[in-house]
Amino acid sequence: MNNLTFLPITIQSYTKLVRYGMKDIDRISVVGLGKLGAPFVAALAHRGFEVIGIDNDEAKVRALNQGKAPVDEPELQELISKNISRIIAVGDYSKITDTDVTFFLVPTPSESTGGFSTKYVVSSAKASAEAIKNKKGYHLFVLTSTVMPGDTEKKLISILESSSGKKCGKDFGVCYNPEFIALGSVIHDLLNPDFVLVGESDSRAGELLERFYSRFCENKARTVRMNIINAEITKLSVNSFVTTKITFANMLARICSGYSGADSDVVTSAIGLDSRIGRKYLKGAVAYGGPCFPRDNKAMAEVGRRVGENALLAVTTDEENRRITSWLADKIVSLSKDKKVLILGLSYKPDTNVAEESQGVYLANELCRRGLKVMAHDPKAMNDARKRLADSVELCDDLDKALESSELIVVTTPWKDYAGIGKEYELSSGTTIFDCWRILTHLEEDSRFHYYAVGVNKNGRSCENGLE
Ligand SMILES: NC(=O)c1ccc[n+]([C@@H]2O[C@H](COP(=O)([O-])OP(=O)(O)OC[C@H]3O[C@@H](n4cnc5c(N)ncnc54)[C@H](O)[C@@H]3O)[C@@H](O)[C@H]2O)c1
Repeated sequence: MNNLTFLPITIQSYTKLVRYGMKDIDRISVVGLGKLGAPFVAALAHRGFEVIGIDNDEAKVRALNQGKAPVDEPELQELISKNISRIIAVGDYSKITDTDVTFFLVPTPSESTGGFSTKYVVSSAKASAEAIKNKKGYHLFVLTSTVMPGDTEKKLISILESSSGKKCGKDFGVCYNPEFIALGSVIHDLLNPDFVLVGESDSRAGELLERFYSRFCENKARTVRMNIINAEITKLSVNSFVTTKITFANMLARICSGYSGADSDVVTSAIGLDSRIGRKYLKGAVAYGGPCFPRDNKAMAEVGRRVGENALLAVTTDEENRRITSWLADKIVSLSKDKKVLILGLSYKPDTNVAEESQGVYLANELCRRGLKVMAHDPKAMNDARKRLADSVELCDDLDKALESSELIVVTTPWKDYAGIGKEYELSSGTTIFDCWRILTHLEEDSRFHYYAVGVNKNGRSCENGLE
């Protein structure tokens, strides 16, 4: 690519499109209406595009056609309700031919080696290729699902070509275009990305997608275009780098917990001012979790292994992350007088109902294993957590009641609701608080409570010393 790639959309890119004899993208098909696909459909419709959503899960198709959000995500229901006239959901692929572009947002489950399965990419590629067999004009295919380096070429392009009888770069184009979103803010993140990553089969495909994003994004994000293999590696590198950064902050928190007078927030706030470091994702607390960070970091290790390289940093980050549960459990066991504990937070982050790989779930299970009686609460993720928790964990729907009957509480997810503990939500005198996120610092000086926080050792008062 030349350096013109990094210029904002200009008349120049419009001229290129005219040269290719192409019109802008207006009608879009999206395969996969899950945690990423459903918000993407809603955001597209909100930006004025006509969208056809395709999913083999009938319940999701039915829900969307009835104007109901198929998954739980902030702003999703509102956007669907406002823009339902531009959305259709279907179970088959035949309508793809009426659209200009097809995005694939199907699952790519992790394999035991750390790589990603492409079985759903392959089946949806076959069905899509069949659907465009007789299409006269050009079609753009965009893979958004996370794949291993090389898979867009081997598993998508080759199947699209063999099943449609058409040629990539001539009859259709392909882009690898992952989104960088966090559950709980998917719609905002889709519309306001830090940058748009486009790996292109050819410049015509990339040009078209770049122009589409200039209309879709609300924040004039820069599009970075490159070949497909670089884009596949870039996607994994972003998440792997962020998990390394979180793990560094968590290491600092553990170290600060051991030094009298130390506070990891003071340290990370200062180092974050260095522009080489930055403040985001630099708060020492609990293990990172969720459906993306752990698996993308493990995949990075596998990316190295496949070419005979030991990606030790990624391997160590994963090991360090898993070690945190046992470190936390040691502290909590040392604080529990009556062998009972209430875990507050089972979602892997606030504002989502997803409990996959969450610290709250891992810690609850570990404390059960160590013989504690564990109760747990979450504002949204109880259903997802239930299937991941040991049977003996007691789930509490009522936060007030749960707090009333607990002498030791542990905050594992910094939900806004929990910041009201000791204010709107009363605590019994004598309660011990173990605050992984430092959201209850108003209780620190309150003599009725025993307050401990991850990363903070005020005047030698850390959980290592046990209760005074
Ligand atoms: N969820 C995230 O936070 C996130 C973030 C970045 C990237 N991703 C990537 O996006 C991809 C999708 O993730 P997700 O979280 O939305 O998954 P998901 O499981 O929530 O949703 C996937 C949807 O695809 C549907 N589907 C599966 N096979 C299909 C087929 N052959 N035809 C039609 N529909 C099919 C499923 O029914 C489901 O509704 C994954 O590769 C993931 O790694 C997800």
